[in-house]
Amino acid sequence: MDLEKLLTDRLGPAFATAAGVPVNPVVRRSPRADFQSDAALALARRVGRPPRDIAAEVLEYADLADVCSVAEVSGPGFLNLTVADAALAGLVSALATDPRLGVPVSAEPETVVIDYSAPNVAKEMHVGHLRSTVIGDAASRLLEWLGHRVLRANHLGDWGTPFGMLIEHLADLGEAEAAREMSMGDLDSFYKAARVKFDADEAFAERSRLRVVALQGRDPMTLRLWRLLVEQSERYFLTVYDMLDVTLTERDFHGESSYNDLLTAVVEDLGRLGLLRESDGAACVFPPGSVGRDGEPLPLIVRKSDGGYGYAATDLAAIRQRTGTLGATRLLYVVGLPQRRHFEMVYAVAAQAGWLSPPARAVHVGFGSILGSDGRMLRSRVGGSVKLVGLLEEAIARATALARERNPDLNKAEAAEVGRAVGIGAVKYADLSNDRHRDYVLDWERMLSLDGNTAPYLQYAYSRIQSIFRRAGTAAPPHAVVSLAEPAERALAFELVGFGRVVGEVAENLEFHHLAGYLYRLAAAFSAFYERCPVLRAEEPVRDSRLVLCDLTARVLRQGLHLLGIRTPERM
Ligand code: ARG
Repeated sequence: MDLEKLLTDRLGPAFATAAGVPVNPVVRRSPRADFQSDAALALARRVGRPPRDIAAEVLEYADLADVCSVAEVSGPGFLNLTVADAALAGLVSALATDPRLGVPVSAEPETVVIDYSAPNVAKEMHVGHLRSTVIGDAASRLLEWLGHRVLRANHLGDWGTPFGMLIEHLADLGEAEAAREMSMGDLDSFYKAARVKFDADEAFAERSRLRVVALQGRDPMTLRLWRLLVEQSERYFLTVYDMLDVTLTERDFHGESSYNDLLTAVVEDLGRLGLLRESDGAACVFPPGSVGRDGEPLPLIVRKSDGGYGYAATDLAAIRQRTGTLGATRLLYVVGLPQRRHFEMVYAVAAQAGWLSPPARAVHVGFGSILGSDGRMLRSRVGGSVKLVGLLEEAIARATALARERNPDLNKAEAAEVGRAVGIGAVKYADLSNDRHRDYVLDWERMLSLDGNTAPYLQYAYSRIQSIFRRAGTAAPPHAVVSLAEPAERALAFELVGFGRVVGEVAENLEFHHLAGYLYRLAAAFSAFYERCPVLRAEEPVRDSRLVLCDLTARVLRQGLHLLGIRTPERM
């Protein structure tokens, strides 16, 4: 149990008795004591009594003796609470023997579908897909750890009209040559070459259009070529996932095409419910609340005028399947913020159709863009979109060079291992430590720095603790008596017992920068502790107590970083 909760449970009934109404005491960390509650101030107006009187009465009723060493009224009616050293030490001891580090398994496990990564076949993954992949993977790891059944849905863009020209281009090149080009990860030039031919060569364009018809008609020869494109791309994406250390596998590809057979049922359901309207030959739904800038209602196009189905229809079919067949109650869509409108409309229509009703709900886990140092959308030197693999290779190369420079004792293999963990970790952490709703600037110097809120700083803190234990020659004694006499010990203990609370909050809002910020504060508190409190040179029983603090810090750092998908090398 975390301290905010413990104190809230103690103060809540006391406030209720004093005020005669249920009150949330809103306990929070305080610069004046350890914690404070300002609830008496708001309450004073409601019940027409001076806040100091209310606060004093609350202290009479509240059962705080075993938790607080000091509980007093201050200023206009604040309650200042100082946690007793023994109480804090007791919580730390409980944590030391808890394999889950104070994070309970969810009392209401759910089936959660996480729609993330979702690159497009025969196209390079861009930095937007990087963000989706990194954030979605952290969400998967976190919710799985909390005991939910997590279904990863890699909603690959593997269907649609561009496939006509892509298949024709593939046929022109010959299968062997096409496979060679794509396996080198040169998806963009393949796509661009097809596009150029399509625009310049009318005969090719005509063939491409016929190809789309053949594809939609499930012509076996065409399907075979299409599958080749999909397989080559999937193989390439898997190499990127491997490099990125994400948990996505080939089993998680659920491409848009996998919903093809469900699309007619979607239209039938919507028709039966009377939700379809025709607009310029297309079958549309006008969900309530969706209006354009001109105030006109906005349609979600379910079936196009040529009879084809698009992006929206597929997303509707996916929701229908995820809640209906898979039994999911929480649907998460980790997709860039520009697609917000699309998802709002899709969710609204799915709700109207009865595919998304409580307890099932869908949430757009949106995110901003990655910017270059010029503050504009990240572009390569020649102006094109930045190739993801290139970016990751650069991160690893820079981190490996830094590792060798910082620690000449590392042999070549160790330096390569550290370089990979730190380089990839830095890229992911830069993403996850920023508020996902905002854009952020990709800054190599900053994200690889050993100072500040960075992956290397946290990884270094972890490895430093491992080196303490290497020197100690023993593990921390889990049942050691914890004592917290020094302010730096107390400050570290407060951070340690706060892990469960942060994890619980992030599981709800999926704002991983709060977890990152927490880990950073923890590492900083450890640094301050380690500067002021000798560990190995301390006398028993203080030495063992401090070893417990070291060990817990390392375990929380490792688990926290693991949830973010970041490795923790034992030495750096
Ligand atoms: N493939 C799309 C893109 O690259 C993202 C798909 C997101 N997921 C979804 N269910 N629509 O923009």
